[in-house]
Amino acid sequence: MSVQFTYGVRGTEQAANDAVIRFVSKKELIQGGTAVPIVQPQIDEALRGLNAKGLFKAEPEQTEIIATLGLYPAAYIVFVGLEQDGGATSLRLAAAAAAKALKKLRAETVQVLLSESLLSCTANAKLGADRTAQALTEGLLLALHAREPLKREQNERFSLKEVAFVPQGTAITEGDAELWKQGIAKGKLFAEGVHLARDLTNLPGNDLTPERLAYHAEEMARELDLEIEVIDEWSAAEQRMGGLLGVGQGSINPPRMIVIHYKGDPSTEEAWGLIGKGITFDTGGISLKRAEGMQEMISDMGGAAAVLGAMRVIGELKPAINVIAVIPTAENMPSDRAIKPGDVLRMMSGHTVEVVNTDAEGRLVLADGLTTAITRGATRLVDVATLTGAVSVALGSQATGAVTNNDQLFKQVQSASERSGERIWQLPSYPEYKKQIRSDAADLKNSGGREAGTITGGLFIGHFAEGLPWVHLDIGGTAWLESSRGWEPKGATGVMVRTLIELIIDQE
Ligand code: BES
Ligand code: MN
Ligand code: ZN
Repeated sequence: MSVQFTYGVRGTEQAANDAVIRFVSKKELIQGGTAVPIVQPQIDEALRGLNAKGLFKAEPEQTEIIATLGLYPAAYIVFVGLEQDGGATSLRLAAAAAAKALKKLRAETVQVLLSESLLSCTANAKLGADRTAQALTEGLLLALHAREPLKREQNERFSLKEVAFVPQGTAITEGDAELWKQGIAKGKLFAEGVHLARDLTNLPGNDLTPERLAYHAEEMARELDLEIEVIDEWSAAEQRMGGLLGVGQGSINPPRMIVIHYKGDPSTEEAWGLIGKGITFDTGGISLKRAEGMQEMISDMGGAAAVLGAMRVIGELKPAINVIAVIPTAENMPSDRAIKPGDVLRMMSGHTVEVVNTDAEGRLVLADGLTTAITRGATRLVDVATLTGAVSVALGSQATGAVTNNDQLFKQVQSASERSGERIWQLPSYPEYKKQIRSDAADLKNSGGREAGTITGGLFIGHFAEGLPWVHLDIGGTAWLESSRGWEPKGATGVMVRTLIELIIDQE
């Protein structure tokens, strides 16, 4: 099932390739008739002919498939437009576009030509061979992973088998081989983390209850030899997790608090706390959501999935850093036992919360999630949550919204997001916004109304950070897509898995 990646010339086996991928920039296409061919003189001519007609312009993500008819030792060449000097995101996008063409061709064994222009252009040179390799590997693998429907007749799934990165010309030095290997390995591992997150998120609500999510986390922890606690509703009651229990009480499927411990650096007390919202289905509760589109709420555990995906990679890479992953998971249902508007909950931290809208449930479970992470020793906190619909009003699906109490920590998160190509946009957290969540009945209320909904939702969670550096990532607009784009499929995206990993391994 897993794709074999190699770097270097493969000699005589070349002829066995189903397809060859060649990234081309606009500049290269226009140059024409130079000494170095793109792939082969006649094929180059055909490609330039298409360009002259305005058909293939080497636009980013544009692909052109040309059958070689014996002129080249591969059945097809897939030309892919590449923005010159575009950095890792351009490479990831180009590789993703190539992957989609491979799927069309059902090409299983593939060569990726690494042209001198690809490798020598400044952005990529600055990127280094390892990051170039990682970006291309991620693009190929991420674009090929989509939701598998559960049908009576299972379709045979296309799977890529072999990818050989082959340098063209002489731009490569021997030392690069090691860097390419490392980059490929990292790209594969990161993609596996994302795939896990997507698969979990795509599971329907009847297959993924809080207990089932805990089961998946336990399986992963066992495989990677990570320490895990699964706190059940009785133990949660002993620990006074009023937020988690309140949200979970309306459902026959009881809530869980999942805690995974990774200790990679025993010499320090510093530890990352990664907290992921794990609402396995969000009906809204008594403040019931409208029917239209409610099925998308199977993805309301996208934050939990991102944290688990990141922990899978951390468990494999074993960086010298400490991480406490916390997943508060519950099913938000209306019932005779469910919380009601006006109810007051006492949270694990001791703070009280007036529930004015049972559909603002994420912040209730996350508050206890933060407290759990802090009591287990976390010293900096990052939470990931499909917290609001408002974030897609503000940013659409183009960026994850961020709220923070610490600009320095946010900068680290932002630079991780630049490396991963997952956009994050910081929203203001002026103290005045907090007035919106003051309550007459308790310390806080769980909704500040429509205005600045993403900010007040974030600030509610931040109230439970106990002054520790904290960043909140609202993936309400980015965890689930209506249609595929770039390296992201329709449905669950697994967004923030790679950003979390980049953040944590950078701190080593
Ligand atoms: N899970 C939803 C947010 C959401 C909605 C994410 C649609 C992705 C797509 C969250 O629990 C919620 O219902 N939020 C409310 C908050 C409001 C009641 C303050 C919202 O956004 O309407
Ligand atoms: Mn909700
Ligand atoms: Zn929700």
